[in-house]
Amino acid sequence: MSESAKLIYQGQEYEFPVITGTENESAIDIAKLRASSGLITLDPGYKNTGATTSAITFLDGEEGILRYRGYRIEDLADKSSFLEVSYLLIYGELPTQAQYEGFSREITHHTLVHEDIKKILEGFPSNAHPMGVLSSLICALTAFYPASLNPNRSEEEINLSIIRLIAKMPTFAAWAFKNEMGHPVNYPDNSLDYCSNFLKMMFALPAEKYDVDPIVAAALDKLLILHADHEQNCSTSTVRIVGSSQASIYASISAGINALWGPLHGGANQSVIEMLEAIKADGGDAKKYLDKAKDKNDPFRLMGFGHRVYKNFDPRAKIIKKAADDVLEKLGVNDPILDIAKELEHAALNDQYFIDRKLYPNVDFYSGIIYRALGIPTDMFTVMFALGRLPGWIAQWKEMRENGEPIGRPRQVYTGSNQRDYVSMNKR
Ligand code: MLT
Repeated sequence: MSESAKLIYQGQEYEFPVITGTENESAIDIAKLRASSGLITLDPGYKNTGATTSAITFLDGEEGILRYRGYRIEDLADKSSFLEVSYLLIYGELPTQAQYEGFSREITHHTLVHEDIKKILEGFPSNAHPMGVLSSLICALTAFYPASLNPNRSEEEINLSIIRLIAKMPTFAAWAFKNEMGHPVNYPDNSLDYCSNFLKMMFALPAEKYDVDPIVAAALDKLLILHADHEQNCSTSTVRIVGSSQASIYASISAGINALWGPLHGGANQSVIEMLEAIKADGGDAKKYLDKAKDKNDPFRLMGFGHRVYKNFDPRAKIIKKAADDVLEKLGVNDPILDIAKELEHAALNDQYFIDRKLYPNVDFYSGIIYRALGIPTDMFTVMFALGRLPGWIAQWKEMRENGEPIGRPRQVYTGSNQRDYVSMNKR
């Protein structure tokens, strides 16, 4: 029996259907609210508002559950690879061996970018933040592949755009870093796997042999899996709403990169290290800053703790914490910044103040630590987040298009001036 919800307003009763998803989440379908009652809802930040139905990712913030297409993040992080998870998110099923090999081969074949992209790159000063370079280069793909401007193309043509995005994002990300370093770019090495190719493009220097550390490549692959999708977060919602106007997939992904850039979203991992560096510069007294975090009159806030969706723990943080410990031990990393991080982590997990406020270390806390240990520079952390989130953005854009969703156009409650007459300047 289908459920419904009733609203009583100004003595009138209105009834709306309630829909329930496969994990028993329920929502009031208010598609007819304004037409029937003249009312709209108001929910800044959409914390109580579902923008869509989706079959891609399920998360339960209270229970700390995260699944991609029904598969537990713990299993995927432990047993899968980033490219296999990308295929799963985008096409809905784990690939057969033949499907995986074809997907991987297609991506390898498209890692190279048009030489004219280098002219765009060279136009950026070396102090350009890599996120701004990345979103610009991704959007520039509309110029090199103008057919992509029409999103209503064949499935085969959409799929080619998807392959190009996954293949070229590592190249663009590494080139953004090389631009910042003032170093010549490295071309893709298609003899390497996805993560190893990226690491070599990032860190290889002319006239020096560069061997990718398999420990680093494996840790990076796991990190990318953990960041691959997270239902309707800020950047994914941005990709969906830009794509809903029938802008190209490249323009939609570029918009998602810019939304992720903010310190309240993907920039949080960069803010974590900047916080740790500030604590170190101030003498490295973690307890002093823990006390500052507890002082409501002190503006200092701990970055990388708690989560707007996960109420008890971020399942990704549990996985990444173990990966961070493994990598730090295997690489023999000895970094005072990481010692400070361990002190903050210990306090957050054992101090009643932080426990009561659910201020546990989240995925951004540990990803900042592990990226630093892998030698990734701080302002490339959010680029790494974008690299991981790309297949999720693509999957969500594709689902929105395939479901024929309408253009996103929220309403508002106007609170400005009522009608008034224009007064000429000499009479004001
Ligand atoms: C994410 O993975 O996108 C972040 O945890 C933020 C979120 O889900 O709101």
